[in-house]
Amino acid sequence: MITFTNKTQYDAAAREQEAVTAAQSVEDGTCAGSAFLGWRDVPTTFLASDEYARMKDVAAEIRSEADAFVVIGIGGSYLGARAVIEALTPAYGRGVPQIYYAGTDISATQLAALRDALAAHKNIYLNVISKSGTTLEPALAFRVLRAYLEERYGAQGARTRIIATTDAASGALHDVARTNEYRMFTVPDDVGGRYSVLTPVGLLPIAVAGVDTDALLAGAAQQRQACRAPFAQNACLQYAATRTQVYRAGYAVDVFASYEPQFAILAEWWKQLFGESEGKEHKGLFPASIQCTTDLHSLGQYMQDGARIVCETVLAVDAEDDALHVPHSDSTADGLSAYEGLSLGAINRIAQDATIRAHRDGGVPVMQLTMPQRDVQSIGAALYFFEYACAVSALLLDVNPFDQPGVEVYKKNMYALLSDAVAKNAG
Ligand code: PA5
Repeated sequence: MITFTNKTQYDAAAREQEAVTAAQSVEDGTCAGSAFLGWRDVPTTFLASDEYARMKDVAAEIRSEADAFVVIGIGGSYLGARAVIEALTPAYGRGVPQIYYAGTDISATQLAALRDALAAHKNIYLNVISKSGTTLEPALAFRVLRAYLEERYGAQGARTRIIATTDAASGALHDVARTNEYRMFTVPDDVGGRYSVLTPVGLLPIAVAGVDTDALLAGAAQQRQACRAPFAQNACLQYAATRTQVYRAGYAVDVFASYEPQFAILAEWWKQLFGESEGKEHKGLFPASIQCTTDLHSLGQYMQDGARIVCETVLAVDAEDDALHVPHSDSTADGLSAYEGLSLGAINRIAQDATIRAHRDGGVPVMQLTMPQRDVQSIGAALYFFEYACAVSALLLDVNPFDQPGVEVYKKNMYALLSDAVAKNAG
């Protein structure tokens, strides 16, 4: 389970009643956006479904047949999967199939480079993921990569290698998948993109990467129970309440910090979850991240000495990483001889504790979350913990945690400009 240590000067108990009421509205389905509460029980409901069994069979097929697997999706349609895969699989040589990501931007250079890289692979599978089925970035990437697969394997060969994860009943991707008879998985109607990592959206790529999805869901299900505990034993509600206190005290930015580079994409997932859920009606902490200790040599200066607008969410791991120790050297010139035999994990922990103390003493409210170890159950627990905390935290701001009206504004402008460009081309 995830534990919470409040290293701020703000008392979570001051918001206890509000947090408990917000959590109750999530539980009884009366909160804002209540049509999108499917994520709440998905760790148990999806585990028990036929679709989950079918998904594991397809993942096993891809693992045995493919040497490359391309995940096409943007925002909530890929970040969760990538966060889990990168948190749990070795940083170098992540294994077979090699996983690529596309549809996360509109860079021609990037997509052309991916197509070139795919030429070196023999058997390529694609998983195109879009709940709406109309998002431009993944739609463009899919158009290009589908054509590539059809060219290489023929229409029938491409058909067996393309899996679509989308709405059960409608949308452009749904229609393309039905027409071409692609295998399909469903994004549940009542689960929004950024809350969908524990549905086929995240779980198919995660299973293809060889991560044990049963254990991931078990960790999330255990955390679900912990999120319903009374406030005094409820790390999730205490975190949400403390964040709100800090925000109301005038802080503007919440920086997610971790001391494990394999959590870099988890930080991106956290930023998307909180940014799209809370940043509405001119409210909310701006979610940012630092990767430690790397960024202590860049943004660390601002954290310590810059404008006092920053608070911090630290995600720590309790178990010491003892993969490496400082080796013996006959030469003492590098000044490290005193540390011989110490594990790098212990040194990293000391750097973490020293930084937390420095930040706290320098006026940065620090909220520390700790997972027991970097294993699959703990990552499942962390995903659920953040989803629940984010929902409660957004409700404490009095905004709907599950919509994203602001994202539509750029899309509207872009489609208008695209129509102009098409008209100019035709003329
Ligand atoms: O959280 C969200 O709802 C968004 O970030 C979406 O996941 C993102 O915009 C992609 O949308 P779609 O899956 O419809 O392509």
